[in-house]
Amino acid sequence: MGATPLKRPRRVEALAFAKLNLHLEILGRRPDGYHELVSLFQSVDLADRLTLVPSAYLRICVTPPGLQLGRHNLVRRALDLLRERYSVRTGARVRLLKKIPSGAGLGGGSSDAAAALVAGSALWGIRPTPAELRSMALELGSDVPFFLRGGAAWMGGRGEKTLGRGRLPDFVAVLAKPGFAIPTAQAFSSLKIPLTRGWGESSLLDYSFDSDAAPGMVVGGKNAFESRLARLYPGLLELKKLLRMGGARGVRMTGSGSAMFGIARNEVMARELSKSIRARGFGSWVVRPTERGMVVIVSS
Ligand code: C5P
Repeated sequence: MGATPLKRPRRVEALAFAKLNLHLEILGRRPDGYHELVSLFQSVDLADRLTLVPSAYLRICVTPPGLQLGRHNLVRRALDLLRERYSVRTGARVRLLKKIPSGAGLGGGSSDAAAALVAGSALWGIRPTPAELRSMALELGSDVPFFLRGGAAWMGGRGEKTLGRGRLPDFVAVLAKPGFAIPTAQAFSSLKIPLTRGWGESSLLDYSFDSDAAPGMVVGGKNAFESRLARLYPGLLELKKLLRMGGARGVRMTGSGSAMFGIARNEVMARELSKSIRARGFGSWVVRPTERGMVVIVSS
């Protein structure tokens, strides 16, 4: 039986979902410059869209045009890393439609990078093992490995180690973003945590989804950055107040900010609240959990 030649895709599309940190604790500062943390991540259905078609060179165009891609264009870095690692001699024309705001703690750049690794592999016919994908993802950023799977997961280490995964009760959240972004590195350094010799596991948590610990975090989680950043950026408190006054519960920051979110009673209430926040000139979105970090569609 003759082998059928592998047909290269004509086009690969990916939806790269955002994430919320339902709970985030910092356990210490490590000698390598990173912070050890424990966080409950949940991917949500606000998504950037990546479209890749074959081309001799690598060219990336972003919509809206002129948008700061942030963190040195993680999509380009992801695709360059793949090409270098697997000696790919061809390129791609890439369109990135940005919906997830940058510098908001929603993981937009990280999610784009994870999606670029998977979509680029499909386009160029390379098959990295899951371990190879994870290692490339971590080279690109601490949050990137999470997006390879997405869903709900307790993450530890720099943010890349999966401590436990499962399903949370469905919820609807309202996001609110002020007019400013907060650079991740600046948020971490603002905590001024001394170098830690050793740190234990967070005493709060059992990292399973069997007890009430994880589901309890949908409304009851806390964010270790919030009080410090609220002193540095007073605008954050105004947003928190808006979300609370609109009836959202468990209002808190995601990641290292600047976006805040709260849990709405239902979709109708969420839409009304989001509209009223937008009417005041802030960014606002209604989101629901997703089971995966991305959706990739290959057309041949
Ligand atoms: O890993 P990533 O590139 O997303 O991190 C950006 C910056 O955020 C790092 O250079 C570091 O200063 C800070 N960071 C940290 N601890 C983490 C993750 C990020 O201090 N766990």
